[in-house]
Amino acid sequence: MLVAPSLLAADFANLHGELDMLNASAADYLHIDVMDGMFVPNISIGFPVIKSIAPLASKPLDVHMMVMEPDRFINQVRDCGAYLMNVHYEACRHLNRTLQLIKDAGMKCGVTLNPATPVGMLEDIIEDVDLVLIMSVNPGFGGQKFIGESIKKVARLRKLIDITGSKALIEVDGGVNAETGKLLAQAGADILVAGSYVFKASDPHEAINSLKVL
Ligand code: DX5
Ligand code: ZN
Repeated sequence: MLVAPSLLAADFANLHGELDMLNASAADYLHIDVMDGMFVPNISIGFPVIKSIAPLASKPLDVHMMVMEPDRFINQVRDCGAYLMNVHYEACRHLNRTLQLIKDAGMKCGVTLNPATPVGMLEDIIEDVDLVLIMSVNPGFGGQKFIGESIKKVARLRKLIDITGSKALIEVDGGVNAETGKLLAQAGADILVAGSYVFKASDPHEAINSLKVL
């Protein structure tokens, strides 16, 4: 299993220390949540912060944009050194164009689905995306309860990807721990995002390793 710890749950007064921990860990990506207070009812970190931490991070940056019309920020995300830019299906008026612009900017493109958005909405775009991020909580906050329906959703997405021959990876975000992670792995997930489970753990390395082995 690939693992992407979500910086949202980190100690923001000690980002340097948290990044040292992540760099030394078995994590595969660093998941960074950007919020605009409109698409989601919260505001998190923005580009000046991402820009300052990017040179300290040895893991590729997976930037999760919880913002309306994310096209407006593609160049800024790229300039932060992002490897992957995740945009929400629900926040894009012309998803096909947005994904093309992300690729043209030299990044991998991901499409994120809110819990109420069906996997079938991706049928006509699945072959053009590098990754699909399934939200297993309503986006905006860390530490929420895992929505059980997400397991079936991942299985449905796995089927769609296999049928179409798409190369898209399946990432899941929200309420992930060793228990929910195991079910998601069985359903066909490739990458698990985990915030609280990693950063609030007494031993974050152990938490990351417990997901890696799934
Ligand atoms: C929520 C964010 C998540 C969040 C997950 O909107 O997208 O990445 O950090 O937090 P946990 O793992 O605590 O549910
Ligand atoms: Zn996220």
